[in-house]
Amino acid sequence: MEYHVKDLSLADKGKDRIEWAEMDMPVLRKEIRKRFIEEKPLKGIRIGACLHVTTETANLMRTLKEGGAEVYLCASNPLSTQDDVAAALVKYYDIPVFAIKGEDEETYYQHIEAVLSKKPHITMDDGADLISTLHKNHPELLENVIGGTEETTTGVIRLKAMAKDGALKYPVIAVNEALTKHLFDNRYGTGQSTIDGILRATNRLLSGSVFVVAGYGWCGKGVAMRARGMGAEVIVTEVDPIKAIEARMDGFRVMPMAEAAKLGDIFCTVTGNLNVIREEHFKVMKDGAIVSNSGHFNVEIDIPALERMAVKKRTVREFVDEYTLEDGRRIYLLAEGRLVNLSAAEGHPASVMDMSFANQALSAEYLVKEGKDLRPDVYVVPGHIDRHVAELKLKAMGIEIDELTPEQIEYLNSWEMGT
Ligand SMILES: NC(=O)c1ccc[n+]([C@@H]2O[C@H](COP(=O)([O-])OP(=O)(O)OC[C@H]3O[C@@H](n4cnc5c(N)ncnc54)[C@H](O)[C@@H]3O)[C@@H](O)[C@H]2O)c1
Repeated sequence: MEYHVKDLSLADKGKDRIEWAEMDMPVLRKEIRKRFIEEKPLKGIRIGACLHVTTETANLMRTLKEGGAEVYLCASNPLSTQDDVAAALVKYYDIPVFAIKGEDEETYYQHIEAVLSKKPHITMDDGADLISTLHKNHPELLENVIGGTEETTTGVIRLKAMAKDGALKYPVIAVNEALTKHLFDNRYGTGQSTIDGILRATNRLLSGSVFVVAGYGWCGKGVAMRARGMGAEVIVTEVDPIKAIEARMDGFRVMPMAEAAKLGDIFCTVTGNLNVIREEHFKVMKDGAIVSNSGHFNVEIDIPALERMAVKKRTVREFVDEYTLEDGRRIYLLAEGRLVNLSAAEGHPASVMDMSFANQALSAEYLVKEGKDLRPDVYVVPGHIDRHVAELKLKAMGIEIDELTPEQIEYLNSWEMGT
C-alpha cells in the first residue's frame, strides 16, 4: 500500500487514541457505522479526503471504509496531523495516509497530489485545498467526480467564490452550514479546544488576564465564552455591527483592535479574514503579549510584519516563538499563527466531531444517491440529514423530547386562530 507517514512504530499509541475517541462518538460508531456495514452504501466509491488527521477523522475514515468506500487521506493543514493516528490508519485500518506533522508546503501539496492520483469520485475538504488543486491542476479528473463536501467556514467561502466565477465544476455540500455542525463544532468545539491549545502552549493562568477575541462568529462566541469561564476579562473586536451588539449584550467589552491591542494579555483571531492583527497593533501591545489564531489559515496575524519589526526571534517553548522588538518589548506568537487548537492541542473533542462527521458520512451517502442530478454549486446539507443527526445524537445521549400533538400541528399550520 502506498502511504507517507512519519513513523509506523507510533501506530499502537494512535490506535489506542482512536479507540478512545470512538467511545465518545456514538452517532458515528453505533448508528451510522452499523448501518453502513449492513448496507454498504459507498461500495465502489473512491473518496479523497483532505482533513485534519486526528483521532476523530480516523473514525470517520473507518466508517466510510466500512460503508464500502476506498478511502485516501491527506492533511488539510501542515501542523495539525497527529503522526500516531496517521500511522495507525495505515497499519491497523489499511487506509492510505499522506500526512506528516510539520511538513513543508511542497510536501503538503505533494500529499494532496498523491490523494488526487487515486482519481476520487468524492472529495472531502476542510479548507478547499483538495478541490481547488483538482480544479487548477487536474481538470482531467473532473469527469470521475460525483461531488464533494466541505467542512469549514473558510472553505465554504472559497467554494462560493468559485461557484460565482463559474469555476466550480461539480456539486459540493457545505457540511459547515449544517446546524448540527456549526452551532456545536464551531462554538463548543473551537471554544474549548482553542483555550486548551493556548494553555498547553503557554501554561498561563487565564484568570485575571485580559483576553482579546477577534471575530464574534460561531467560533469567536465559543472562545469568548470559554475564556470568560476561565476567569479572563474578555474583549471582542468585530467589523459586523450586529455581531458587535450581540457581543456587548452577551456581556463582553467591544472596541476596535487598535484599542484592544493596548490592553490584551492574550489575543486570539477567529475571523477567517486577513491581517486582523498587524503592524499598527504590534506597535502598541504590552511587553509579553501572547498572540494566537484559531481561524482556518495562518493569515489572520500579519506574521511577515512581525518578522520585519523584530530585532530578535527565538523559540522559547514548543509552539511559542518570541519576537523582540526594537524597543525591547516581546511578543509571543503561538503555533506560527496556525490553528492553535489543532497545532498545540488535539483539535475538537470527539463528542462534537461526532455530529460534524455524521453530517460528512451522510452527505457522502447522499452524493452517491443524488449527486448526479445536482448542478455544480454549493449546497447546504439537506434538512432531513441535519435533523436526523440531531435525533441520533439525542438518542445516543439518552435524551428524549416532546412530540407535537395533532392539535399543536393544526394550530401551527393555521392562520385563523388569534386571541
Ligand atoms: N479552529 C478550528 O478548529 C475551527 C473550527 C471551525 C471553523 N474554523 C475557522 O474559523 C474561522 C471563523 O469561523 P466562524 O464559523 O466563526 O465564521 P463566522 O463567519 O461565523 O465568523 C467570523 C466573524 O469574524 C468577523 N470578522 C471578519 N473580519 C474581521 C476583522 N477584521 N476584525 C474582527 N472581526 C472580523 C465577521 O464579522 C464574523 O462575525 C474560519 O476561518 C473557519 O474556517 C476553525
